[in-house]
Amino acid sequence: MNHRTTRRRRLLTGGALALTAGLVLAGCGNDSGNDKDGSSSGDAAKKPELKVGGAYIPAPAMADMAGGFFTVTNKGGADKLVGASSPLAGSVTLHATVGSTMKERKSFDVPANGELAFARGGNHIMLEKLKRKPEQGDKVEVTLRFEKSAPITVAMPVKAATYNPSNAKSHSTTDKHASTGGSTDMHASH
Ligand code: CU
Repeated sequence: MNHRTTRRRRLLTGGALALTAGLVLAGCGNDSGNDKDGSSSGDAAKKPELKVGGAYIPAPAMADMAGGFFTVTNKGGADKLVGASSPLAGSVTLHATVGSTMKERKSFDVPANGELAFARGGNHIMLEKLKRKPEQGDKVEVTLRFEKSAPITVAMPVKAATYNPSNAKSHSTTDKHASTGGSTDMHASH
């Protein structure tokens, strides 16, 4: 896996180096069994296969700022979320929550065959300089940009201010919303 970059560069330069790398690859390939899809590129060269699901924006308390949540699932090689934008927002930034503090981050890893979760109390995107206040029932278009994959645009539904899908899953009752500390609350301190 560590050889990914090196291998790709060799393949790209072509010629004898590529041939050598190819032979080495063929040898390695026998260890890990047959590729299901018949491609000879191996795991390390796999393209990311990203999907964005479970996206939502809790109806914000403030008129000019909102938080957004979603999960990126990946059935391929590693990628990175490197940015986001929305026609509704003058600025969209990526935030991690460390303890009770939010930190802006330039990128988030999307692991190979894994997922990157943006959930309440944790990672979130922050939409600022909103052109209008998103109301429950609206959809907000957000485009996520990745290091390798093409950008993905999601219409994020605006949910109730206290909406939290992970709570809905782990508790059969939904009357505990009061205890859901929305991370959008923390944006007041920005
Ligand atoms: Cu934030």
